[in-house]
Amino acid sequence: MAKSSQASWGGRFSAGPADLMLRFSESVSFDKRLAPFDIAGSKAHSAMLAHVGLITKKERDAIHAGLDEILREIEAGKFTWSTQLEDVHMNIEQALTKRVPAAAKLHTARSRNDQVATDMRLWFKHACAEIMARLRLAQRALLALAARDGHTLIPGYTHLQRAQPVLLGHHLLAWLEMLERDHSRFAAVAKHANWCPLGAGAIAGTTLPIDREFTAKALGFVDEKGRPRVTQNSMDTVADRDLFLEFASACAFFGVHASRIAEDLILWSSAEFKFVELPDAFCTGSSLMPQKKNPDSCELLRGKSGRLVGNLSALLAMTKGLPLTYNRDLQEDKPPVFDSLDTTAICAEVLAGTLEGLEVNADRCAAAVSDPALLATDLADYLVERGVPFREAHHAVGAVVKLAEQKGLPLDRLATADVKACHPGYGDDWATVFDLKRAMAKRRGTGMPSPAQFKKQLARWTKLLG
Ligand code: ARG
Repeated sequence: MAKSSQASWGGRFSAGPADLMLRFSESVSFDKRLAPFDIAGSKAHSAMLAHVGLITKKERDAIHAGLDEILREIEAGKFTWSTQLEDVHMNIEQALTKRVPAAAKLHTARSRNDQVATDMRLWFKHACAEIMARLRLAQRALLALAARDGHTLIPGYTHLQRAQPVLLGHHLLAWLEMLERDHSRFAAVAKHANWCPLGAGAIAGTTLPIDREFTAKALGFVDEKGRPRVTQNSMDTVADRDLFLEFASACAFFGVHASRIAEDLILWSSAEFKFVELPDAFCTGSSLMPQKKNPDSCELLRGKSGRLVGNLSALLAMTKGLPLTYNRDLQEDKPPVFDSLDTTAICAEVLAGTLEGLEVNADRCAAAVSDPALLATDLADYLVERGVPFREAHHAVGAVVKLAEQKGLPLDRLATADVKACHPGYGDDWATVFDLKRAMAKRRGTGMPSPAQFKKQLARWTKLLG
């Protein structure tokens, strides 16, 4: 079973790993997606080695040409990956060394520990950009929907009970706020990723005269002024997995937000609400019940959020209690973040698609919001404006609500005399509060759902989202 080791670390071993161990420990099956970042890192590293004279310019050029060729093969699906070689780093390095003898010098002053940390920091920058672009799609879909149908009134809910009337657009812009916070979280993760690990070596740097700033610049790890940013402690550099946690956490936040939006849509599209019609293209039918149209895209958004939360939990559990610095446990850090990127990216796209095709059922919204009880709080405010302390006003409106229930009448249909009998604060004009238009216009403060505020907010978002 034991063969002599093919691995680059094989020198001190008399036997290679068991097949079972190879199958158990390989990561190339999933970390091969790091290839473009690994190759970029190796090009920058070899450029630096040539810059400081550790390899010749000729050797650098040969290494670069070989790496370019390998990248082309990988992109064309023509590269042969081998699990015998453990991971993406060793697969690429060995393929390169077979073609370019000078590649035997590539790993000078580098370890897979700072190499994988670099690959992942490059990957996180890329992953954040991918997600941010897709979040913008969902946000723009929301904004378009808000601009088109936002003036429709619906009941706002607390405890899933009708609470107060709001503009549909106000509800949609609440979702937009959630997605904007997600967007800024990914921007922050990308910013935190922007430090170059190369030069940290396995744990304690190198005795060789490398130029870390050169490599950082070549890889774009620079600040706004173009100054290189290199990590400041070699041990922390190879042990740190905070970015994984932050990225998975940003994805989990998004998942939680997407699941709440999805849940609202599932409710709104049910026959009980029927505020909206979901696009056929994002729904499915039942194999048994011909009449069914199921909100599958929303249900999957809700369901997949569980994976995003799970990925974060897996990473937290994996990192907790690990001694400094690198431990092989950390190889398990990649599948969760890869899955979080893939899941988040497609969820954001599906959310955008579902929102783009949404139809609003104005009649059903109007019927639901016509319930005058939604303005019971406005009646209390009416009493407050007439000098009644709020707690007393709340009671006085409660009495009117109770009376309406007893008489089986809508709140605004009670006789003025009966209302006035409930509290001396009520005047002949008590029923004017039930004018929805007036009620909405009065909610004019910042963040409130008046049409004037909504217009302001729409303008703000239009400016922000372009
Ligand atoms: N495949 C490894 C990982 O992803 C690369 C680092 C290996 N380092 C080591 N000392 N064995 O964690």
